[in-house]
Amino acid sequence: MKKKLINKIVIASNNKDKVQEIKRYFNKINIELIPSYKLSIPEPKETEKTFKGNAFLKASYTAKLTNLTSLGDDSGLVIPSLNGKPGIFSARWGGPKKDFNLAMKKVNKKLKGKSKFAWFVCSIAIVSPNNMSKIFEGRIYGNLTWPPKGEHGFGYDPIFIPLGYEKTFGEMKKEIKEKISHRSIAFNQFFKNINLF
Ligand code: IMP
Repeated sequence: MKKKLINKIVIASNNKDKVQEIKRYFNKINIELIPSYKLSIPEPKETEKTFKGNAFLKASYTAKLTNLTSLGDDSGLVIPSLNGKPGIFSARWGGPKKDFNLAMKKVNKKLKGKSKFAWFVCSIAIVSPNNMSKIFEGRIYGNLTWPPKGEHGFGYDPIFIPLGYEKTFGEMKKEIKEKISHRSIAFNQFFKNINLF
Protein backbone atom coordinates (compact mmCIF):
# COMPACT_ATOMS: atom_id res chain seq x y z
CA MET A 1 0.00 0.00 0.00
CA LYS A 2 1.31 3.47 -0.90
CA LYS A 3 2.16 5.54 2.16
CA LYS A 4 0.09 8.73 2.52
CA LEU A 5 2.30 11.81 2.56
CA ILE A 6 2.04 14.06 5.55
CA ASN A 7 -0.31 17.02 4.92
CA LYS A 8 -0.05 19.11 8.10
CA ILE A 9 2.88 20.21 10.28
CA VAL A 10 2.88 22.37 13.40
CA ILE A 11 5.87 24.71 13.56
CA ALA A 12 6.98 24.77 17.19
CA SER A 13 7.90 28.45 17.39
CA ASN A 14 6.57 31.74 18.69
CA ASN A 15 8.97 33.70 16.50
CA LYS A 16 6.92 35.17 13.62
CA ASP A 17 10.02 35.96 11.47
CA LYS A 18 11.24 32.39 11.81
CA VAL A 19 7.78 31.03 10.90
CA GLN A 20 7.62 33.28 7.81
CA GLU A 21 11.07 32.10 6.69
CA ILE A 22 10.12 28.44 7.21
CA LYS A 23 6.92 29.03 5.20
CA ARG A 24 9.03 30.32 2.29
CA TYR A 25 11.06 27.07 2.27
CA PHE A 26 7.78 25.12 2.01
CA ASN A 27 6.27 27.29 -0.73
CA LYS A 28 6.40 24.61 -3.43
CA ILE A 29 5.22 21.84 -1.12
CA ASN A 30 1.62 21.09 -0.45
CA ILE A 31 1.68 20.87 3.35
CA GLU A 32 -0.40 23.03 5.67
CA LEU A 33 1.84 24.76 8.23
CA ILE A 34 0.36 25.78 11.57
CA PRO A 35 2.48 27.96 13.89
CA SER A 36 2.23 26.74 17.49
CA TYR A 37 1.31 30.27 18.67
CA LYS A 38 -1.94 29.98 16.67
CA LEU A 39 -2.79 26.99 18.89
CA SER A 40 -1.77 28.96 22.02
CA ILE A 41 1.05 26.52 22.71
CA PRO A 42 4.06 28.10 24.44
CA GLU A 43 7.64 27.26 23.49
CA PRO A 44 9.29 25.02 26.09
CA LYS A 45 12.46 26.25 27.83
CA GLU A 46 15.62 25.36 25.88
CA THR A 47 17.16 23.14 28.53
CA GLU A 48 19.27 20.87 26.34
CA LYS A 49 23.01 21.27 25.71
CA THR A 50 23.02 20.87 21.92
CA PHE A 51 21.21 22.42 18.95
CA LYS A 52 19.82 18.99 18.04
CA GLY A 53 18.63 18.41 21.61
CA ASN A 54 16.79 21.73 21.75
CA ALA A 55 15.22 21.26 18.29
CA PHE A 56 13.98 17.80 19.37
CA LEU A 57 12.70 19.18 22.69
CA LYS A 58 10.58 21.85 20.94
CA ALA A 59 9.18 19.41 18.34
CA SER A 60 8.39 16.57 20.75
CA TYR A 61 6.75 18.89 23.30
CA THR A 62 4.51 20.36 20.58
CA ALA A 63 3.72 16.95 18.99
CA LYS A 64 2.62 15.66 22.40
CA LEU A 65 0.32 18.63 23.05
CA THR A 66 -1.21 18.80 19.54
CA ASN A 67 -1.18 15.16 18.51
CA LEU A 68 0.14 16.42 15.16
CA THR A 69 3.52 16.06 13.46
CA SER A 70 5.63 18.99 14.67
CA LEU A 71 8.81 20.70 13.55
CA GLY A 72 11.21 22.37 15.96
CA ASP A 73 14.37 24.22 15.10
CA ASP A 74 17.33 25.59 16.98
CA SER A 75 20.13 27.63 15.52
CA GLY A 76 23.04 29.81 16.44
CA LEU A 77 26.54 31.06 15.82
CA VAL A 78 29.53 28.89 16.73
CA ILE A 79 32.98 30.50 17.11
CA PRO A 80 35.72 27.88 17.58
CA SER A 81 38.24 30.42 18.97
CA LEU A 82 35.71 31.21 21.74
CA ASN A 83 35.29 27.51 22.51
CA GLY A 84 32.08 27.35 20.48
CA LYS A 85 30.38 30.38 22.06
CA PRO A 86 27.78 31.86 21.80
CA GLY A 87 26.49 28.52 20.40
CA ILE A 88 23.16 27.43 21.86
CA PHE A 89 23.16 30.68 23.85
CA SER A 90 23.22 32.87 20.68
CA ALA A 91 19.76 34.34 21.30
CA ARG A 92 20.47 34.80 25.01
CA TRP A 93 23.60 36.93 24.31
CA GLY A 94 21.16 39.61 23.14
CA GLY A 95 19.85 39.88 26.72
CA PRO A 96 16.18 40.18 27.70
CA LYS A 97 15.66 42.90 25.07
CA LYS A 98 17.18 40.70 22.33
CA ASP A 99 19.63 43.51 21.57
CA PHE A 100 21.93 42.06 18.89
CA ASN A 101 24.02 45.23 18.65
CA LEU A 102 25.00 44.42 22.20
CA ALA A 103 25.58 40.74 21.36
CA MET A 104 27.73 41.62 18.31
CA LYS A 105 29.81 44.06 20.40
CA LYS A 106 30.33 41.33 22.98
CA VAL A 107 31.52 38.93 20.25
CA ASN A 108 33.87 41.57 18.79
CA LYS A 109 35.39 42.35 22.21
CA LYS A 110 36.04 38.69 22.99
CA LEU A 111 37.54 38.11 19.53
CA LYS A 112 40.41 40.63 19.88
CA GLY A 113 43.55 38.86 18.60
CA LYS A 114 41.70 35.58 17.98
CA SER A 115 40.61 33.72 14.85
CA LYS A 116 37.45 35.17 13.27
CA PHE A 117 36.43 31.86 11.70
CA ALA A 118 32.85 30.89 12.61
CA TRP A 119 29.79 29.06 11.40
CA PHE A 120 26.03 29.18 11.75
CA VAL A 121 24.22 25.95 12.60
CA CYS A 122 20.55 25.07 12.19
CA SER A 123 19.09 21.84 13.54
CA ILE A 124 15.56 20.87 12.66
CA ALA A 125 13.68 18.05 14.31
CA ILE A 126 10.46 16.49 13.06
CA VAL A 127 8.47 14.45 15.54
CA SER A 128 5.24 12.62 14.75
CA PRO A 129 2.53 11.88 17.36
CA ASN A 130 3.51 8.19 17.28
CA ASN A 131 7.01 9.28 18.31
CA MET A 132 8.80 8.84 15.04
CA SER A 133 11.53 11.41 14.81
CA LYS A 134 14.25 12.64 12.48
CA ILE A 135 16.81 15.39 12.92
CA PHE A 136 18.61 17.31 10.16
CA GLU A 137 21.43 19.81 10.47
CA GLY A 138 22.85 22.50 8.17
CA ARG A 139 25.97 24.63 8.59
CA ILE A 140 27.42 27.58 6.76
CA TYR A 141 31.06 28.50 7.35
CA GLY A 142 32.50 31.99 7.20
CA ASN A 143 34.42 34.75 8.95
CA LEU A 144 33.35 37.47 11.33
CA THR A 145 34.03 41.11 10.48
CA TRP A 146 33.84 44.46 12.27
CA PRO A 147 32.04 46.91 12.09
CA PRO A 148 28.60 45.41 11.38
CA LYS A 149 27.40 45.98 7.81
CA GLY A 150 23.96 45.79 6.20
CA GLU A 151 20.35 46.29 7.11
CA HIS A 152 18.94 42.92 6.05
CA GLY A 153 18.44 39.83 8.15
CA PHE A 154 18.59 39.55 11.91
CA GLY A 155 20.79 38.47 14.81
CA TYR A 156 24.49 38.25 13.91
CA ASP A 157 23.93 38.69 10.14
CA PRO A 158 25.77 42.07 9.88
CA ILE A 159 29.08 40.59 11.12
CA PHE A 160 29.08 37.26 9.23
CA ILE A 161 30.67 36.89 5.76
CA PRO A 162 30.12 33.40 4.32
CA LEU A 163 33.17 31.74 2.70
CA GLY A 164 33.33 32.57 -1.02
CA TYR A 165 31.43 35.87 -0.61
CA GLU A 166 32.50 39.45 0.11
CA LYS A 167 29.27 40.71 1.64
CA THR A 168 27.89 40.05 5.11
CA PHE A 169 24.58 38.21 5.46
CA GLY A 170 23.24 41.62 6.57
CA GLU A 171 24.14 43.11 3.17
CA MET A 172 22.63 40.25 1.16
CA LYS A 173 19.04 40.20 -0.04
CA LYS A 174 17.03 37.57 1.81
CA GLU A 175 16.53 35.59 -1.44
CA ILE A 176 20.30 35.09 -1.67
CA LYS A 177 20.87 34.34 2.01
CA GLU A 178 17.95 31.88 1.98
CA LYS A 179 19.57 29.93 -0.89
CA ILE A 180 22.82 29.30 0.96
CA SER A 181 22.06 29.54 4.67
CA HIS A 182 22.42 26.88 7.36
CA ARG A 183 18.60 26.83 7.62
CA SER A 184 18.18 26.28 3.88
CA ILE A 185 20.72 23.41 3.98
CA ALA A 186 18.87 21.77 6.88
CA PHE A 187 15.49 22.17 5.14
CA ASN A 188 16.81 20.73 1.88
CA GLN A 189 17.92 17.65 3.83
CA PHE A 190 14.45 17.43 5.34
CA PHE A 191 12.71 17.73 1.94
CA LYS A 192 14.84 14.87 0.58
CA ASN A 193 13.50 12.70 3.43
CA ILE A 194 9.92 13.94 3.70
CA ASN A 195 8.55 10.59 2.45
CA LEU A 196 9.68 9.08 5.77
CA PHE A 197 6.74 10.72 7.52
P1 IMP B 1 16.73 30.24 18.25
O1 IMP B 1 17.04 29.26 17.15
O2 IMP B 1 15.37 30.83 18.13
O3 IMP B 1 17.05 29.69 19.61
O4 IMP B 1 17.69 31.52 18.09
C1 IMP B 1 18.91 31.42 17.48
C2 IMP B 1 19.70 32.70 17.59
O5 IMP B 1 20.89 32.46 16.82
C3 IMP B 1 19.05 33.91 16.94
O6 IMP B 1 18.40 34.73 17.87
C4 IMP B 1 20.25 34.65 16.35
O7 IMP B 1 20.86 35.41 17.33
C5 IMP B 1 21.21 33.53 16.00
N1 IMP B 1 21.01 33.12 14.60
C6 IMP B 1 20.50 31.95 14.14
N2 IMP B 1 20.42 31.94 12.80
C7 IMP B 1 20.89 33.14 12.40
C8 IMP B 1 21.03 33.75 11.13
O8 IMP B 1 20.68 33.21 10.05
N3 IMP B 1 21.54 34.99 11.13
C9 IMP B 1 21.90 35.64 12.25
N4 IMP B 1 21.78 35.15 13.46
C10 IMP B 1 21.26 33.89 13.54
